[in-house]
Amino acid sequence: MNLILLGPPGAGKGTQAKRLEEQFGIAQVSTGDMLRAEVKSGSEIGLKAKAIMERGDLVPDEVITAMLAARVSRPDAARGFILDGFPRTAPQAQALDRMLADKGLKLDHVIELKVDDAALVDRIAGRFTCAGCGTGYHDSFKPPAKSGVCDSCGGTEFTRRADDKAETVAARLDAYHRQTAPLLPYYAAQGKLSGVDGMASMDEVARQIGAILSGKA
Ligand code: AP5
Repeated sequence: MNLILLGPPGAGKGTQAKRLEEQFGIAQVSTGDMLRAEVKSGSEIGLKAKAIMERGDLVPDEVITAMLAARVSRPDAARGFILDGFPRTAPQAQALDRMLADKGLKLDHVIELKVDDAALVDRIAGRFTCAGCGTGYHDSFKPPAKSGVCDSCGGTEFTRRADDKAETVAARLDAYHRQTAPLLPYYAAQGKLSGVDGMASMDEVARQIGAILSGKA
C-alpha cells in the first residue's frame, strides 16, 4: 500500500504516519526528517537546506526528488510507504507519478488532514521530541506520563525544532497554501483524494484514516 498524507505544517502527518507504519509494516518516508538528518550530519545537502528550512521556504525540487527516489528504493519500502511531507509542489507530484510508473507501482490513497490555520501555531509551538529515541510529544496534547521523562526510552533530554518559531511557522503556512494546497485538485482529478478531520483527537483521526483504507469511509 502506498499513501500520501497531505496537510499543512502541524496537521498531524508525522503523528499519523508513525501509527500507520506500526499498523501496516510499511515505511514512513518523511522528507522533513530526512532533511533534518542531512543538516545534523553537515552534508552538502544539509548545508544547502539549513537556511531554507529555517526561513520556512521549500528546498529545491531537484534536491528533494533525488533524495526521495533513493529512499523509496530501500528494502524497508518494498512493502509500501507513507509519504509524509512529499510531494509539496506540482513538479514533485509529477516526478512522483513518473517514479511510480517506472517502478510499476501505484498510489492507493492521498489523505488530506484538514486543520484550521489558527490551531496549527499552538500545535507546533507545543511540540517537542525525545533527544534519545525521537518519540514526539506535545506540551498540552501529548505530554510524557512523567514530566521530563520519555515514555519510550526513559531519556530526560528533549529538543524543539529550529523552524518551530512563530514567524517561521507563518512562512511555512504560506508556502503550504501557495505551493502545496494546489495539489489537492490534482489528486481529486485522479480519484485518489479523501479528507479527514484533522481537528479531531489523534485517535479519531486514526479511526477516520483506517475507515478510508478499509473502504468503509
Ligand atoms: P516537515 O518536517 O515536513 O514539516 P511540516 O510539513 O511543516 O510538518 P510538521 O512536521 O511540522 O507537522 P506534522 O503535520 O507532521 O504534524 P505532527 O504530527 O508533528 O518539513 C520541514 C521543512 O523541510 C519544510 O518547511 C521545508 O523547508 C523542508 N521540506 C520538507 N519536505 C519538503 C519537500 N517535499 N519539498 C521542499 N521542502 C521540503 O503534529 C504537530 C504537533 O501536534 C505534535 O506535537 C503532535 O503531538 C500534535 N498533534 C498531532 N495530531 C494532533 C491532534 N489530532 N490533536 C492534537 N494535537 C495533535
